[in-house]
Amino acid sequence: MDQSAMTIFVCVSCRGQGEGEGGSGLALVNALRDKFAAASAEGVAVKPVECLAVCKRPATVAMVGAGKWTYLVGDLTAADHLDEIVEAALSYQRSENGIVPWKERPASFRKGVVARIPPLGFEIQEQQTT
Ligand code: FES
Repeated sequence: MDQSAMTIFVCVSCRGQGEGEGGSGLALVNALRDKFAAASAEGVAVKPVECLAVCKRPATVAMVGAGKWTYLVGDLTAADHLDEIVEAALSYQRSENGIVPWKERPASFRKGVVARIPPLGFEIQEQQTT
C-alpha cells in the first residue's frame, strides 16, 4: 500500500455568494492542480466531486489516503486558502495515519474541519481491564 499517495476531492457543486454552477469548487480544483504541478509534488491527485453533503460551508474538500483517516473540511476558497490547503495536504501526505499534528494544521483547517473518518479496518485499541 503506497502511503504517500493521496487524493483531495473538491466539491464542484458548492456555490458561494453570487457564483454560478461550479463556482468556488471548480476554481479551487484548477488552482490546486496548478499549485501542485508548480511544486512538482508527487502522489497528490486533485479530483472534482459532486456534493460532499456539507453544502452550507462552501467550498468543501476531503483528503483521502489508503490506510489513513479521511478529513472533511469546509469554508475554503481558492482566493483565501490555496497555500493553506497545499500545506495541509503535504502534512497529511507525510503523516503515517492521516492525522496531522495540531501545530501543523493551518488556521483554516483548525476552524474548518467538519469530520474525520477512520480508515477501513480501523480498530480502536481497547484498554486492558483487570
Ligand atoms: S454542494 Fe458542495 S458539499 Fe454539497
